[in-house]
Amino acid sequence: MSWIDEKAKVELQRVREAREKQVYPYFREFETGGLHTQIAGKPVINFSSNDYLGLTNHPRVKEAAKKAVEKYACGLSSSRVQATTTEHVELEARLAKWFGYERCLMFTTGYQAMLGTIVSLADKDTTLVLDSYSHACILDGTFLAAGIPGRAPEVRFFNHNSAKSLERILKSRERKNAMVVVEGVYSLDGDKAHLAEFVEICAKYDAVLVVDDAHGTGTLGERGTGVLEETGLRDRVPVVVSTFSKSFGGIGGLLLGSEEVVDLVKHNARSFLFSASLPVPVVAAASTILDMLEEDGPKMVRELHQKSEYFRTELVKAGFDLGASNTHIMPVMCREERKTLFMHIALLECGVLMVPITYPAVKHGEERLRVNITRGHTQEDMDQALDLLKTYGEAFFVLSGEDIGPVEPA
Ligand SMILES: Cc1ncc(COP(=O)(O)O)c(C=O)c1O
Repeated sequence: MSWIDEKAKVELQRVREAREKQVYPYFREFETGGLHTQIAGKPVINFSSNDYLGLTNHPRVKEAAKKAVEKYACGLSSSRVQATTTEHVELEARLAKWFGYERCLMFTTGYQAMLGTIVSLADKDTTLVLDSYSHACILDGTFLAAGIPGRAPEVRFFNHNSAKSLERILKSRERKNAMVVVEGVYSLDGDKAHLAEFVEICAKYDAVLVVDDAHGTGTLGERGTGVLEETGLRDRVPVVVSTFSKSFGGIGGLLLGSEEVVDLVKHNARSFLFSASLPVPVVAAASTILDMLEEDGPKMVRELHQKSEYFRTELVKAGFDLGASNTHIMPVMCREERKTLFMHIALLECGVLMVPITYPAVKHGEERLRVNITRGHTQEDMDQALDLLKTYGEAFFVLSGEDIGPVEPA
């Protein structure tokens, strides 16, 4: 056995144990697309999907992708430098206009968009200031920037969503420039960034604010353009990063900003320059969703909000703890690993998928089910999920908060 096999054996012990106990919850295989899918031959309603507007499987979207396959196939076999199509350029121009920025650049994933943006903009003259709950793409972009010899920025963290903590960090920074990166909506907690306070502090300390609005795009603001539309702060935030992998029904990353900044990232971001171009069928699908948002965005956003309001009210009435959530992302806090896993398995047996989030993704004591309400969920879906959550929430002491105690083997 080589050392890498030894290493894998040692490091995967926890995964092996979970599989042996038949509570390993990840990488479950969907047998169809959509919120109403099938796992191991059984129908399942997915409540952990990020398809917030329920448009991914819309016939118009699929038809556009099929047409694009005929014209451009599934890939362009090269990066954007030598594989840009008129479809890419047209959609970038439309997106820039829809979001209200001068320019847009499409990456192959949102993860790459954030990596490329941070590495291109933050250098040795920069202090990068991150929220302590930052998504992996923000952390990885920062680690990458910090590892470039001679260019490494100073890296500082502030307490999650704390304006006071942010101000302390900006005041005591060591570098001339400062770049603050936050998320519009935090994906595990479902709370929004305190942007009104952050833009003021950034202005006071001459810092640039970058907002990753992956979960706000399509869900917030009257037209669905995101958290900056909702808060009326678009003019105060010079750089936005987003994704097609949630409301836009596919895959792909977005950078929005001024002509100069977007052009700089376009010519510097290695995650853009050295990775394959976004396939045109995916561009066509996103472009069709943009058509639909332009036609009917406000109605779709209202429908999403009505559904999430209903679900939230019922969960709160039943006594569930939703942490800091104030959006369609509603973590059902179980605060104990076994309770979370048991809830997940019991719900799945009954056809409802709510993915468990456990340590190290969250701290011990903050384990939860990932619950996202989407516009694609029906009243029956929500009522079925609520009934099951109440039943098992009582059975596994999630609602009472009591200790679950030792579990005897069957
Ligand atoms: C906040 C945030 N940013 C960025 C990303 C990455 O997006 P993508 O799936 O397009 O790589 C995600 C996806 O999980 C996310 O939640």
